Amino acid sequence: MRVRPRGTGSVAHCTMPKALITGITGQDGSYLAEFLSAKGYEIHGLKRRSSSFNTDRVDHLYEDLHKSGAKFFLHFADLSDASSLAWCLADIRPDEIYNLGAQSHVKVSFDIPEYTSDVVALGTVRLLEAIRRIGLKCRFYQASSSEMFGSTLPPQSEATRFHPRSPYGCAKVFAHQIAVNYRESYGLHASCGILFNHESPRRGETFVTRKISRAVAHIRLGLQDQLYLGNLEARRDWGFAGDFVEAMWAMLQQDQPDDYVIGTGEAHSVGEFAEAAFAHAGLDWRKYVKVDPRYYRPAEVDDLRADASKAHRVLGWRPRVSFPELVRMMVDADLAALERKLKGGMEAVALTKER
Ligand code: NAP
Ligand code: GDD
Repeated sequence: MRVRPRGTGSVAHCTMPKALITGITGQDGSYLAEFLSAKGYEIHGLKRRSSSFNTDRVDHLYEDLHKSGAKFFLHFADLSDASSLAWCLADIRPDEIYNLGAQSHVKVSFDIPEYTSDVVALGTVRLLEAIRRIGLKCRFYQASSSEMFGSTLPPQSEATRFHPRSPYGCAKVFAHQIAVNYRESYGLHASCGILFNHESPRRGETFVTRKISRAVAHIRLGLQDQLYLGNLEARRDWGFAGDFVEAMWAMLQQDQPDDYVIGTGEAHSVGEFAEAAFAHAGLDWRKYVKVDPRYYRPAEVDDLRADASKAHRVLGWRPRVSFPELVRMMVDADLAALERKLKGGMEAVALTKER
């Protein structure tokens, strides 16, 4: 990846650089935290109060860094709470802020459009305003989304018109535009990564790829007979989250802030993903997958495929994991996790019987 040495006006890094990540407990937040910790960053993450544990994806990191004496901190805050954000920024004074926090489920955004807009759109303004009012000299990454392109035809690049098709997509367009506006109005080093779908074994269980890989594991091990999905025709440009977080960091290392499309340039349908995932476990997907209209959306995004040539050219970024490798990685991880769980369950049963 091409990363220029920081020039005039950049953040001086005499000591360990500090990164603040909103959404650190999510899929991308966890990969980004791993990536930045390997680069020697002091990492601060915002976590929400929850009645159950919500730090599973970063617990290993916390443990590892704790032992090695590195710096990793989690702070309670919420994108819907401006004062918590302002306090954290004033206290931590990060060099780089990665705004990944979001109600990120498109279908759910139709059920809770107001909350989604509050967190995704206004949450971004709250963060930007806190930076401006505190007078923080930092670099800002905004997690924009290919969902903003909605119904415009592929391939989509930075020059493609936005036509969002969901409350989530609309809120992301606002967040994207307001980040651009703070760059133009106040000279903030704010860059937006327009990321296409990226997945991993850490993907939330209700996104379609993970829903499929988990179902394949359950069916393969005899714990489930059917998988109900919605629109099998929708096409997505699916890449690996671990590759994509590297592009986020690369954007903030450029002298000039800018916007970049990040994706693999290859699209597949939901049906093709399911076919490949079942086939990897030796199963014929047509025997198990049924369509349930409950999973249809009021408006669908039919076809997303990235033209990431600007990121190739300027950032030197390219994805490493291919579509078949991603499918295999996710199915293998879910099979291994379920096998471990079942083994653990059997051991627990054996122990109970011994008593
Ligand atoms: P994710 O797994 O759903 O993680 C979302 C994160 O946001 C979680 O840490 C979540 O906390 C946190 N969050 C939710 N509501 C919040 C609130 N009110 N205040 C503070 N934090 C809140 O999403 P992801 O896949 O990692 O995606 C990261 C970002 O990239 C999101 O902004 C998403 O919209 C965007 N994006 C994702 C993709 C993709 O394909 N993955 C593509 C384009 C853009 P909890 O853990 O407590 O729920
Ligand atoms: N979730 C889900 N569940 N989606 C299904 C199902 C199902 O049972 N059946 C079919 N689909 C279709 C959806 O209709 C959609 O067309 C496609 O599978 C992908 O759905 P998701 O995996 O939920 O992802 P998404 O594309 O809507 O949104 C993700 O990618 C965006 C980037 O384009 C999320 O990560 C967003 O946060 C992200 O911005």
